[in-house]
Amino acid sequence: MKQKTILVAGGAGYIGSHMLRLLRNADYRIIVLDNFNNGHRQAVQGFACVEVDLLDHAKLVALFKKEKIDAVIHFSALIEVGQSVKDPQLYYFNNLVGTINLLQVMLAHDIKHFVFSSTAAVYGEPQYTPIDEQHIIAPINPYGRSKAMVEQLLADYAHAYGLNYTVLRYFNAAGAHPNGEIGECHEPESHLIPNILTSILEKTGPLKIFGDDFDTPDGTCIRDYIHVMDLCQAHLLALQQLFSYGGSYHYNLGNGKGFSVKEVIKSAENVIKQPIPYQVHARRPGDPAILIANSRLIQNELGWKPHYHNLEVIIGHAWFFLKNRMNNLRKTG
Ligand code: UFG
Repeated sequence: MKQKTILVAGGAGYIGSHMLRLLRNADYRIIVLDNFNNGHRQAVQGFACVEVDLLDHAKLVALFKKEKIDAVIHFSALIEVGQSVKDPQLYYFNNLVGTINLLQVMLAHDIKHFVFSSTAAVYGEPQYTPIDEQHIIAPINPYGRSKAMVEQLLADYAHAYGLNYTVLRYFNAAGAHPNGEIGECHEPESHLIPNILTSILEKTGPLKIFGDDFDTPDGTCIRDYIHVMDLCQAHLLALQQLFSYGGSYHYNLGNGKGFSVKEVIKSAENVIKQPIPYQVHARRPGDPAILIANSRLIQNELGWKPHYHNLEVIIGHAWFFLKNRMNNLRKTG
């Protein structure tokens, strides 16, 4: 069978860079697209890479004219809920207009297979938990709305232009490649697990817990942490499904088990074998108390199964990566 070419938009980012390794192992030809505003150049070493911003329509057209692409996996997005509330334009331009550009150029070149990174944030404040794909879409911030709007236009494009697509709604992506070479590293970092670990590694002071008065057993928010390699495995299955059958699909991706912020801290203490000091601060605006995924649909339809259930293993991989990164930074200096 002819080797298929996959364009990975946002391939230098946290999840995208892990996806590149899985695609390479599965023998796809890969082209990475990234604007490198948040992506990491060292994460794409050894991969064919083009520096293009999705808002640069002319450059996108030139890329698609030059390359024969079979499918696009689209990870590029801004992901900070708080920032999206302060500067919604940034989110609607990058996440919505950028995706509209990408789809326009894809369709103009007759490329009709698309895997889209969406988020649990499209569900807004959960009406019930665990959340399945039938849950009402009611995002409560511009970040979630930018993703929900793309989901809506994908349905319209499928109907009108025969686009085949899969929407993957991530719960809390976590962990790192088990080899410790790549992992989660946002600037600034807002996510819980890297913040816990860097509070120790970089001695940044006590971890801030954002609220301990939620309606949960210990008062801190409960989240469903899913290993980044498991997330990427789901993209691979989604891609194969699109190539084999076409169609349009929506799947939640989580482990189906929730951990409170305090439980995550406890697990991290077990991994790094030292106490993690914390201070309780005010709630962060827009944090729902509990987000747990029901991912049975993708398990039943695609046979996806998360491989990493154990939170300590997930945190252990993040720790291994962050320690490596720190040692490398020290060496290069
Ligand atoms: N938290 C802290 N201290 C920190 C960082 C986080 O207490 O330093 C808390 C948060 O308040 C939240 C929990 O840890 O209760 C998890 O926070 P993260 O920032 O790690 O993740 P979120 O649940 O906020 O974010 C995830 C996805 C987003 C998505 C959002 C939907 O990463 O893409 O869920 O609510 F938008």
